[in-house]
Amino acid sequence: MLKTTLLKATQAGAKVLQEYFNGTFTVSHKSTVNDLVTEADKAAETAIINVIREDYPDHQILSEEAGEIKMDSSIKWIIDPIDGTVNFAHGVPLCCVSIGVEQDGEMILGAVYNPLMNELFFAQKGFGATLNDRRISVSSKTNVSNAFMVTGFPYLWEEEQPNHALVTLERFLKQGLPVRRLGSAAIDLCWVACGRFDAFWEHHLNAWDSAAGYLIVQEAGGKVTDFKGNTYSPYQKQILATNGHLHNDLLKEINR
Ligand code: IPD
Ligand code: CA
Ligand code: CA
Ligand code: CA
Repeated sequence: MLKTTLLKATQAGAKVLQEYFNGTFTVSHKSTVNDLVTEADKAAETAIINVIREDYPDHQILSEEAGEIKMDSSIKWIIDPIDGTVNFAHGVPLCCVSIGVEQDGEMILGAVYNPLMNELFFAQKGFGATLNDRRISVSSKTNVSNAFMVTGFPYLWEEEQPNHALVTLERFLKQGLPVRRLGSAAIDLCWVACGRFDAFWEHHLNAWDSAAGYLIVQEAGGKVTDFKGNTYSPYQKQILATNGHLHNDLLKEINR
């Protein structure tokens, strides 16, 4: 069963995170000096892929460090072995394993597990979302003026002037809104799903950052779109995830 394999793979990756956390491991740089990949990212990825391969040798895989493994299958596993690598590398326990399962282009399962806080978020399309097996739902806040929001920034800034990401952030901060930046898009999304935050937006994500988390938000009753309000696809860069009530007002703010 896909769900069983998903949970097994998530646990296998999380075990690696826990083993390496606070220990010593090699850290290398990717696109910039702060875009990191550690020995643990690669070890967790191997552990996750091994579990999936054992049960489903012919499924497609898209994973941050390993890239794309194309197969003739309608199922694709989208893996972020550690989301929040920079936190992980500095001993900050805001990081997780994130795995989404896509069938014929539709996300059907998602799991995000932060073993350092022992929080496992899970969703199955049409069956709701859970945190450690208890049903979760988004917040009921209806007014942007008291919204609690979270965002993220890319490792590589685009050269556009003025920079849209900074303009949006500045606009919210100038309204006195408490905006956070946790450093893990998957956790950001799950914390919207369980009502800790009312909204999350980011300008430049990859499919593995959001694949599981966006399904978890939707299944918890929230809304996820791009900045134009179009149906969200994890293969696009922009994401706005909200409790639903604030969605239109936040789209207006982002596009103002
Ligand atoms: C990053 C985190 C971060 C987001 C970046 C992502 P990584 O993923 O999700 O919150 O702002 O855009 O790349 O590199 O830690 O897997
Ligand atoms: Ca990364
Ligand atoms: Ca990521
Ligand atoms: Ca990662």
